[in-house]
Amino acid sequence: AAIAARTDEIITGLIGLEGPLLPILHALQEEWGHVPAAALPRIADRLNLTKAEVHGVMSFYHDFRSKPAGTHVVKICRAEACQSMGSDHLTEAAEKALGIGMHGTTADGKVTLEPVYCLGLCACGPSAMVDGKVVGRVDEARLHKIIEEIRA
Ligand code: FES
Repeated sequence: AAIAARTDEIITGLIGLEGPLLPILHALQEEWGHVPAAALPRIADRLNLTKAEVHGVMSFYHDFRSKPAGTHVVKICRAEACQSMGSDHLTEAAEKALGIGMHGTTADGKVTLEPVYCLGLCACGPSAMVDGKVVGRVDEARLHKIIEEIRA
């Protein structure tokens, strides 16, 4: 019920904007760290969209989470420049080390792994973002060190 009420408040505050869907999704994610499933039908209803449309927009923009994140969030850049510097391999190594896939969270709730599309550090790829901090030249050794640190 708290989610419903707060969602309605947020929608009401932003519905007057031109193209209110993205600002609403961002505001919801800011509030709860993810966009709760319970919010989707309310958004759809107020914006005259189908639930599938809201869901489609959420998955098109990679910023939105449908579930809460872990304590730490590791984002690996999957955009072109970093891909050419081996971010595929890095992603695989991270998935293996954490035992989860992209968008997953470790069972202890400590680490969430997410893709990101360019961190503006293309010259130093592959790049990653660890709890909001951008890190360049992330090779496997560095990755393991990062994971070790945040899991400690
Ligand atoms: Fe990875 Fe730009 S492509 S930082």
